[in-house]
Amino acid sequence: MNDSDNQEDFKLDLARRPRRLRRTAAVRSLVEETRLTVDDLIAPLFAIDGDGEKEAVGSMPGVFRRNLKDLALECRELWDLGVKAVALFPSIDPSLKDAVGNEANNPDNLGLRAIKAIKDAAPGLLVMADVALDPYTTHGHDGVLNEAGDYVLNDETVERLCAMSVLQAEAGADIVAPSDMMDGRIGAIREFLDDAGFDDTAIMAYSAKFASAYYGPFREAVGSASAAGTSLLDKKTYQLNPANRREAIADALLDEEEGADFVMVKPAGPYLDIVRELRNATSLPVAAYQVSGEYAQIHAASQLGWLDYEKSRDESLLAIKRAGADMILSYFSREVAEGLRG
Ligand code: PBG
Repeated sequence: MNDSDNQEDFKLDLARRPRRLRRTAAVRSLVEETRLTVDDLIAPLFAIDGDGEKEAVGSMPGVFRRNLKDLALECRELWDLGVKAVALFPSIDPSLKDAVGNEANNPDNLGLRAIKAIKDAAPGLLVMADVALDPYTTHGHDGVLNEAGDYVLNDETVERLCAMSVLQAEAGADIVAPSDMMDGRIGAIREFLDDAGFDDTAIMAYSAKFASAYYGPFREAVGSASAAGTSLLDKKTYQLNPANRREAIADALLDEEEGADFVMVKPAGPYLDIVRELRNATSLPVAAYQVSGEYAQIHAASQLGWLDYEKSRDESLLAIKRAGADMILSYFSREVAEGLRG
């Protein structure tokens, strides 16, 4: 039977031949289960003050920090491309940072002015405001530290985040997105928003946010690493242990109970099992954040000629959607939206 002379005669008696549905582009397209569309994409954007040129982020080719005028322009273009939402991150002047991140609660801070500028330029575009203290603290942690400086205080931080969320809603944010991983923050923020009359402001909870090495390039972008002197800032006392699946799902379900409108998994690519499991465990929309390191990785490998850039980019996004994400935050959003438009 294995004799190569007999190959022509060799015939398997198969009832099922799965390759029938892979023969031509037409049949492959007919049976395609997952398709990425522009409606799936959320674009993270970085804001800076002043009126200077846009600043490149070294480890994220094609990603820039933009002044508010350029940011508004970029948002207008994203909206015209069909992108429905942006996630906004301010990169504030280091001189405005302090140990408790007071600037976060300044009603005229960069993040709040950026929300207003975007809503003015593209009123229909959904603006997601990040709720955490890391862009504002000298140490780069997401919250307020204890006196010894070695632990992020939970309830004190949540109080600050509640005030921050209300300011963001006032500025026009459609969605507030707590990325801090403090306990009880979703319920507290919901209550504060409702009390201030912002019943319609949605909450996207960074629910399953892992203490990941893949955030390095982002910390360069908002300058939250430089203060701590390292891109490996240790956030293990609040972000999830990458080893833990059950804990991630339990934490996300707590956010749902507390009133989150969306739950998120972050990073995305290395955590597709969590995306799928959370998709099955909740009826809320599930977002996945393809983080800075995932973006940098694809760029770096393709710069070396080791990966095909567009193919690996598209496959990375498709895989996240296939795993169960209803929407994806990705630094590739704009160029992929351009490609989808054809
Ligand atoms: C912090 C925050 C981080 C990211 C989004 N919000 C980094 C961190 O937790 O230190 C990372 C996003 C990315 O890597 O693209 N609140």
